[in-house]
Amino acid sequence: MRFTVTEQDAPGVSFDYEIVFVMEDNIANTADSEALLLAGFGKGSCLDMPGSRRVYVSIKNTEPDTIRRAIAKAVGALKGHQVKSIRMPHMKASLNDDITPALTAIAEAFVLSDYHFDKYMTKKYEPRLEEVFISVSGCDFATARAALEKGRIMAEAANYARAIGNEFPQVFRPQEMTAEAEKLAEGYETMTVESFGRDYLTEQGMNAFLAVNQGSPYEAQLIHVTYKPAGAAKGTVCFVGKGLTYDTGGVNLKSNPYKMKSDKCGAAAALGIVKAAADLGLPFEVHAVLGMTENMIGCHAIKPDDIVTARNGVTIEINNTDAEGRLVLADCLSWAQDMIKPDLIIDMATLTGAVVVGVGKYTTGVLGNSYALMDAFKKKAQASGEFYTVLEGNCYLEPALDSKVADVRNSFSGTPGGATLAALFLDRFIQDEYKDKWLHLDIAGPAYSEDAWGYNPAGATGIPVRGCLYYLMAD
Ligand code: BES
Ligand code: ZN
Ligand code: ZN
Repeated sequence: MRFTVTEQDAPGVSFDYEIVFVMEDNIANTADSEALLLAGFGKGSCLDMPGSRRVYVSIKNTEPDTIRRAIAKAVGALKGHQVKSIRMPHMKASLNDDITPALTAIAEAFVLSDYHFDKYMTKKYEPRLEEVFISVSGCDFATARAALEKGRIMAEAANYARAIGNEFPQVFRPQEMTAEAEKLAEGYETMTVESFGRDYLTEQGMNAFLAVNQGSPYEAQLIHVTYKPAGAAKGTVCFVGKGLTYDTGGVNLKSNPYKMKSDKCGAAAALGIVKAAADLGLPFEVHAVLGMTENMIGCHAIKPDDIVTARNGVTIEINNTDAEGRLVLADCLSWAQDMIKPDLIIDMATLTGAVVVGVGKYTTGVLGNSYALMDAFKKKAQASGEFYTVLEGNCYLEPALDSKVADVRNSFSGTPGGATLAALFLDRFIQDEYKDKWLHLDIAGPAYSEDAWGYNPAGATGIPVRGCLYYLMAD
């Protein structure tokens, strides 16, 4: 998709359709206001007027996420039309007004709204939007173009993560993720990939990760992707992603594992973030550590009652094979701290159903030990329009992790607060020097959705790719 910056009312711009924003308290001052009022246009409305080739969308302010949602609505209204090019309302910066966040949001919204997982459909979504014209004033064209490009890159990275999350388990197994990461890195001089299988994981004592893989015919993969900027790096950030290409629950079989192809969305997002970091040329070294395996049922599978020794020496009683993500993450987090020694480590995982019960299906739970870090992350990341809620732990919850036969158990049946307890479990694998440099993002709710919402289609959403990028890029 191309974004073209023009002068206001520039001659020679030919477009199929126009999107017109209508301030909700100012409908009367809009062109076509009579027709709009006759049609019952009001707060929250979106009206397609094919006669004038315009879609009118009501907005209550010009905040970036208001703009993203309005564009998503307008694009939705154009479904079925033969629209390949769109003109946007004129964006005007006044003296104290920076329009670059709005321009970034415009590009994000178009690219995010144009994503469709139609790879396996005979009838594709066509035509696809090719060009968006935006006129600006009070902001030089180079700055406007850079803001749009930033938005386009972030949204493309989210779409990339969506595409991986949506792939189905028969074709997308751990080795496919390795191939995907290798293919991605081929396109960048600044990116490298290494991948490790069973022998290496055994050598490393990553028995928690291996235990989850035991029931699967496909070898687990630990994938390490590195983006190193061309110039000096301001610091090193590592994203660790849960990559369960399928989660049946194992011997603690889920009553209905349908949609559990989505359990790889954390790994998909981590890879998407590295892609965007390379495209944007971010001044950080960005690593992704992806823990890829299936969690299957069968005669080789681990059983509730098994005990494993994780890479850091902690013994784990596996009392529920469906609490497998934390086993994979435990070893991947341990590996990443020792091997990468980053300044900040953020894991992302579709980890618990409990987080969805707690904060709803659109919100990511932010957990960790440092309130300052969690709050800063939430504040900066939610500029993306994604929702983040900080979930606090406390020492009284700790005894729930106790096992009678090992150092810790992986599930705490009957104890409320599953998302927080899962984070406390992960904390057992965080070294002292990393306690305050670690964040855990539980994306079980928003990473994958049965229905479309806002600028997210049904299926994988690419959350938290843009949230993490906003965090990295904030001052
Ligand atoms: N992958 C699931 C969590 C999940 C649930 C993701 C719903 C997306 C939507 C995870 O592996 C899991 O099964 N967790 C269990 C943990 C429990 C056994 C302690 C859960 O949340 O029920
Ligand atoms: Zn599970
Ligand atoms: Zn899972």
